[in-house]
Amino acid sequence: MSSSQPFHLSSPITGPSRKKSRFTYRHLQLLSQSSTSCPLRVIALIDYDAFYAQCEMVRLGVAETQPLAVQQWQGLIAINYPARAFGLSRHVTVTDAKTKCPELVVQHVATWREGDDRWAYRDDAARHIQTDKVSLDPYRLESRKTLALLKEILPAPPVQKVERASIDEVFLDLSAQIHGVLLQRYPELRYAPYDDPTERLPLPPSTALDWHADALVDLDSAETEDDDPDWDDVVMNIGAEIVRGVRQSLYEKLKYTCSAGIARNKMMAKLGAGYRKPNQQTIVRNRAVQHFLSGFKFTKIRNLGGKLGDHVVETFGTEEITDLLATPVEQLKAKLGDDTGTWLYGIIRGEDNSEVSSRTQIKSMLSAKSFRPSINTTEQANKWLRIFVADIYSRLVEEGVTENKRRPKTITLHHRQGAQTRSKQLPIPQGRKIDETILFELAKTLLGQIIVDGRAWPCANLSLSVGGFEDGVSGNKGIDMFLLKGDEARAAMEPPPRSNTATPNPEDTRPEKRRKLVEATSIARFFSRGDSGEEPEEEPIDDFADEPSAQDEVDTHEDQTHKSPDLQQQDIAAYFCQSCQKSIAETDRAEHEDWHFARELQAQESPAVKSPANSRPPGQISTKPKRGGIGTRGRGSKPEKGQSRLAFG
Ligand code: CTP
Ligand code: CA
Ligand code: CA
Repeated sequence: MSSSQPFHLSSPITGPSRKKSRFTYRHLQLLSQSSTSCPLRVIALIDYDAFYAQCEMVRLGVAETQPLAVQQWQGLIAINYPARAFGLSRHVTVTDAKTKCPELVVQHVATWREGDDRWAYRDDAARHIQTDKVSLDPYRLESRKTLALLKEILPAPPVQKVERASIDEVFLDLSAQIHGVLLQRYPELRYAPYDDPTERLPLPPSTALDWHADALVDLDSAETEDDDPDWDDVVMNIGAEIVRGVRQSLYEKLKYTCSAGIARNKMMAKLGAGYRKPNQQTIVRNRAVQHFLSGFKFTKIRNLGGKLGDHVVETFGTEEITDLLATPVEQLKAKLGDDTGTWLYGIIRGEDNSEVSSRTQIKSMLSAKSFRPSINTTEQANKWLRIFVADIYSRLVEEGVTENKRRPKTITLHHRQGAQTRSKQLPIPQGRKIDETILFELAKTLLGQIIVDGRAWPCANLSLSVGGFEDGVSGNKGIDMFLLKGDEARAAMEPPPRSNTATPNPEDTRPEKRRKLVEATSIARFFSRGDSGEEPEEEPIDDFADEPSAQDEVDTHEDQTHKSPDLQQQDIAAYFCQSCQKSIAETDRAEHEDWHFARELQAQESPAVKSPANSRPPGQISTKPKRGGIGTRGRGSKPEKGQSRLAFG
């Protein structure tokens, strides 16, 4: 009968008696759904090499070998790899950098200047720290361009799952796409014997996995390259192939190089991406996770770079993952609280169930300036408010606010004096077009409120933000339909299925429901086209390790939303089912997918499929899968890393 033994990563069935995969048909199904609990899931993180520097190289059309650095006031914020070869880093001053590398091209970031209605590259920017404000718009725009291309290259949603993690980082959940490739390449995986999803899969077939030039991190001590590969190795290999193709296209079409990490979750993918740079990809196989992790301090892990990490270091007197591994979960929970303790226990074991979330809408926009020296008058402050408003307004226009696609509900002014920060907030009046005048009036009112409270001067930092974005009510179709291509556009125009039945029903043409869903889809599509995303402000602070740079004090701000992806609003109300070529309400997604699953199962009942001769690889006659069709294995000489035998026939 079927094996219903639960799946345990920690207890692989090894040795000569191992005839089947550790993974089941159910796991394959979870893979197709990009389920976060799927033990075969494959996540990639793409991180552009020296991103701002590459943006400038592309913009200026300089040779790839030309050393180049990006300057912000007197500091350097990005250094390309040719310049790094001269020992340059973010901590080097502009003068030192030029001494160390005389042929260095130094490009100052674009700035906003009072009176101008858009940012510009200016030769004299570095001397205008008092009157200019940094604009990262050029990099934001490039970031969007790369994201749009990524979305074009990858299969359409819902197979495609792409999350912009920062200005130069994107997570891809490749699970569903890989599932498709797997079934194509290994038809023996298509149907569970006896329709039993708890049945273990046959082991992977005999071709050696070709990792090309990819970096593979070393395996855990209990594993060897001689150990039999399982499907988790195969899916990683397919993931690597996809990412290699994606990187190639990014380079061919936009001339950007990036590094990538490919692993079972976001956290490991992120760590993997940093392993080999530039222009390389690293695979962290499941069998290598623990060994790889042991090389890091836990303060390098996502969410442990900041205060929480410091607290853990203080509490347990160590920064080493290896030391923490010895701490029982009860102790972690007792010292850090149940949730954090449990989370940390998993994280240091390489477990991370967080989803790659396709929601990429902007939640807020912020424009800020730190003053050195501090400013002392309303007049000075107003000049900056005007610049903030121009900055935010231009981004609102890009976000479609003038077409009433979305609009922010609130405007907030933050004020800093010494270590003390104060904020004032006002609602943005509805029913009236948002323009620069109204934003400026609101900003001045907020400043007035701070002044009335007293202690407004001297002021060390001001920042203005708008937030609480809501979708506009109508009129979206015309504009964003052109963003949909061919079938997608046709399908989006078609009536969506009833949302309260498991079976898609194309006959449902109830007008109000239809309108709502079609609009929702259009909106979702618009925001998934790559033209939006959370906007890390001024400086995309890394989610994973808070490493302050020399630039931190000046013009460095992070969007509030950046750190709390879980709190993101769920604005995308529909998704596009590829099989049906229809938009389906997001709330009905699970049900709808179940329906497809049920239909797939039903398909297995069909005679052609039922016949073992058709569904099994040649050479296998049993009705239960053995290592069928997979031949005998032989031991060769010591294999290369990742090139282990996989030897069959
Ligand atoms: N950045 C910054 N200040 C920091 C960190 C990053 O201004 N403290 C900017 C950099 O200019 C950079 C971009 O954010 O180009 C992305 O940051 P990151 O990926 O950390 O560095 P890269 O410059 O892209 O270099 P790498 O090749 O190591 O990824
Ligand atoms: Ca980068
Ligand atoms: Ca980065």
